[in-house]
Amino acid sequence: MSLSLRYDKVNKIFDEDSKHAVHALRDISFSIEPGELFCLLGPSGCGKTTLLRSTAGLEKISGGSIYYGDKDVTTIPPFRRNIGMVFQSFALYPHMNVFENVAYGLRVRKVDSSIVKEKVTDIMKLVGLEDVLKRNPAPSALSGGQQQRVAIARALVYDPDILLLDEPLANLDAKLRRYMRAEIRRIQKATNITTIFVTHDQEEAMAVGDRLAVLRDGVVEQIGSSDDLYNYPQNPFVANFIGKMNFFKVKVAKITEEKVDVRLNDTLSFSLDRSQYRSSSDLKTEDELLIAARPEHLSIAKQCDKPAIEGKVTIIQHLGHIVRYEVEVDPSYSRRTLEIDMEGKVAEIVEQDTVKILFNENRLTLYTQEGQQ
Ligand SMILES: Nc1ncnc2c1ncn2[C@@H]1O[C@H](COP(=O)(O)OP(=O)(O)OP(=O)(O)O)[C@@H](O)[C@H]1O
Ligand SMILES: [Mg+2]
Repeated sequence: MSLSLRYDKVNKIFDEDSKHAVHALRDISFSIEPGELFCLLGPSGCGKTTLLRSTAGLEKISGGSIYYGDKDVTTIPPFRRNIGMVFQSFALYPHMNVFENVAYGLRVRKVDSSIVKEKVTDIMKLVGLEDVLKRNPAPSALSGGQQQRVAIARALVYDPDILLLDEPLANLDAKLRRYMRAEIRRIQKATNITTIFVTHDQEEAMAVGDRLAVLRDGVVEQIGSSDDLYNYPQNPFVANFIGKMNFFKVKVAKITEEKVDVRLNDTLSFSLDRSQYRSSSDLKTEDELLIAARPEHLSIAKQCDKPAIEGKVTIIQHLGHIVRYEVEVDPSYSRRTLEIDMEGKVAEIVEQDTVKILFNENRLTLYTQEGQQ
């Protein structure tokens, strides 16, 4: 039976009594469903490892509670929580062969050796290492991806209630990483163990997770499916962290019951639906807001009849299914280089050309500048 996992106002302050106190987790409250593969995503130092270590009981939290199912485990020591964990550096025991590495958790639990053999064999089959087990070498004789699988097998072999994976693919090259993330999903679905997968790679989190949480400075900024987070980011930070996003500075010109009109400059304005405004605070005219546009919701053209801003194409990249144009605009419109995706190469446009930038108005979103990255 898979367990749910619940955080209730969890806080962690390192070195609480010193002037160098670090408030690493702030009022974390959310639940993970039984059998769910849940991703924790966020920039370096946002508290991902701290939340994972707190979940395992390796870190004593400063406030709040953690529940496995209905059971409050806040004060239960790590060895009494049935947790499988793969750490950021998934160090295997170098002096033990692969079998003993995987068997370790069973040996310390004093499991009978015939059952150890059976369980290790089963789990190595699940992670696709049957042949390696026959050879049974030391971990140093395995490839990075094989070592990774051994680390996962070692964490799974004693049927943990919860599996915690801290950047398990960090040491692998890009291609193997993509392959292994699908493998992790396959293995997790086969075992149905409630799992937290930590990564700072948004593509990995979106590909692997049933749901994801985006953390920033110890705070959960948003929780949802990949789709929710990509299509309905709640603030500019999440919008920018999940996929690419372009931002433009605009001013509110007019507000009606259904529309918000915003002005980019003297000639270019947009009349957007109120539902395109995603922040919660009230709006008034002359407020400064941000327009957010995904690269696929902008386009470029050599000429256009409507009012449009101009930019200079700095780099053109062919990315297979799309062509990405990097375009510099006046910093009073956007403080960063724009990224614009076109389905094919636009005839006649080359690097260093000046182009017009067109907006797909229906797909734009509006935010206050709060929570900007
Ligand atoms: N043992 C510790 N003592 C003091 N501060 C700590 C300790 N461990 C972590 N921190 C601080 O807590 C914050 C969160 O760290 P954490 O390791 O959880 O980040 P992370 O999201 O896992 O980052 P990364 O992606 O780099 O692994 C950081 O500011 C870090 O410096
Ligand atoms: Mg970490």
